[in-house]
Order: sequence, then C-alpha cells, then structure tokens
Amino acid sequence: VSMAAADSGKEAVVIPVLSLASPAKINVFLRILGKRPDGFHELASLFQAVSLQDNLHFERKDDDDTARDSMECNVAGIPTDDSNLILKALAVFRERTGCTQKFHVKLDKRVPFEAGLGGGSANAATTLWAVNEMCGRPATDEQLAEFGAQFGSDISFFLSSGTAYCTGRGEILRSLPPLTKPSAMFIVKPNFGLSTGKVFQTMDYERLSKRDPELLLNEIMESANEGLISPAACLNDLEEPSFRLEPKMGELKTKLASFGFDIVLMSGSGTSFFCIGRPHALLLGTGERDPRNMSDVLRTILGPAFPGVFVEQCTFV
Ligand code: C5P
Repeated sequence: VSMAAADSGKEAVVIPVLSLASPAKINVFLRILGKRPDGFHELASLFQAVSLQDNLHFERKDDDDTARDSMECNVAGIPTDDSNLILKALAVFRERTGCTQKFHVKLDKRVPFEAGLGGGSANAATTLWAVNEMCGRPATDEQLAEFGAQFGSDISFFLSSGTAYCTGRGEILRSLPPLTKPSAMFIVKPNFGLSTGKVFQTMDYERLSKRDPELLLNEIMESANEGLISPAACLNDLEEPSFRLEPKMGELKTKLASFGFDIVLMSGSGTSFFCIGRPHALLLGTGERDPRNMSDVLRTILGPAFPGVFVEQCTFV
C-alpha cells in the first residue's frame, strides 16, 4: 500500500509496525499570567524534555471496516479505553486526515501519571507522529501540532525538538537551542497525584510571582550557557496552590532542599519535583560517593515519611 506524502508529494512506503520512545518533560519555570475567557489560563513556561520515558509500539490492524483501535498497558490503573489520549489521538488523526487505518498500541509505562511530567500528552504526540509516518505522512508536522492542541495544551511541545518557550495555553512554541545537560538530576514523586484542573482552580491570583517571564527566560538561557541554570529563575506559580491542596508537597520540597541540591522545583501542576545538582548534604551524611547509587539512597531516606516514593535519575534530551 502507498499514499501521497503531505510534505513531498511523492509516493511513500507504508510502515507495518513502529516502536518509539515517548519522553517526559519538566517546566524549568512556569508563570501563570491570568485566566482567559475560554476557562484556560494564559501561561509562559520553559519546557524541557527529559530521558525518563515511556515506550510505545504501534501495529496496523488488518483493513476491516469493523476493526476498532485498541491498546494495552503494562501498568494497572492506566485507562485503556477511549479516555486514554492515545486512542483520542488516533480518532483525531483519522477525523482530520480522512485516513481509515486502525491500530493496536502497546504502552510500556515508566513515566508516573498525575505528576506534571506530561506523560499522557507525550503519548498522544508520539501517537500522532507515529501513525502519520505509518500512513505515508498525510499531514505535515505543523498540522500534527494543530491536531494535538485541539485536545491537550502540552501536546504540541512533544512534537518539538525538546527545548521550547511555551505560551498561550502552552501550545504556542518558540523552539530554543538545547540546554546544557545537568551534572546530576532526579525526578521525585510522592505516591499520590493531583489533577491539573483542580490545581488551576485552587490558584489565588494575588499570590502569583509577577516576575517577567521573558526576563526569567533570558536569565536561564544565559546561565545555562555557563553550565548551571540559575536557581533564582526556576519558579513555578502552581507550587503554591498544589501545596495548599496537599501539605505533604511542601514537606517533600523542604526535605529535598535540605539535601543540598542546586534546584528543587515542582514540575507542571505536580506532584513530581525535579532536583538538579548533587545532593551534597546527603552525600556527606551517608558516606555515599557514587552518584549512580543516589536514587536508592534517596528512596531509603524519604521512605519513612513518603512510603512508595518514586525516584529516578535522568537528564535532559
Ligand atoms: O490541556 P490539558 O488537558 O493539559 O488541561 C487540563 C486542565 O488544566 C484543563 O481542563 C484546565 O482546567 C487546566 N488548564 C488551564 N490552563 C492551561 C492548561 C490547563 O486552566 N493553560
């Protein structure tokens, strides 16, 4: 089978199966600028993709009008019905391109959910990109980003090169050069999550930081060139409402900061934190010298107050 590719006008080869990584993101800073008439919030944020990732495997179903898309997942608790953004992405793709192909998708989930890491949006973006390739590219990259923005604010970012200044609802992108990889970085998430909508609803406009996002961006890009992102420019306006909803979040941040990282900041609407730098105070306390063992050390030390805490070392991609 072959179809006309949108960007070349040439015949394209159709791919029967495809396996792809679906990376998470962090928000190096996140400013909320106000509420919009459509109920969403105007934001300004520096998004960075990280190496913590899910894997997705796509298979074409036999041509059959009665076939339905389907998916499976290695983790219990992840919906595999139409509420999953993977199946939503397949439906939107077909609706917008006129393509009739159905798919089966295997999701190998590693990125925690309700974590502010964009896991579901990344899966949707990866799905749009994958099935477009597998169907002979009926849509351009710009069109894929537009399809994604229809059903999730972060989806366009995951179709970018991995570092971007995002505004509007989060779907307007300015692509940036890659940030220098940190010497060490950890993602830490307690065993509970928070719904993004609820965190936005809890926000108190009087308590927003009021810092100019363009200045934050300049400060970060300049400091990143010199090797360490400026901790003073890493702030997230959604920390305050998240900490009010879940006081344990504030406790976790204080505890992580006491370990001596350069930066500890909540990502998105939580409940994960990213920690950049080496936890010098913790290394001194435990006698541990090898940063490769630090995830285990962090899990053990946080365990009594935060049972089931997720800790994973990763880097920028
Ligand atoms: O677009 P997404 O599905 O990520 O948004 C989830 C919820 O977060 C929205 O329903 C909305 O309540 C809130 N949100 C917002 N402003 C944004 C992004 C999300 O209010 N820019």
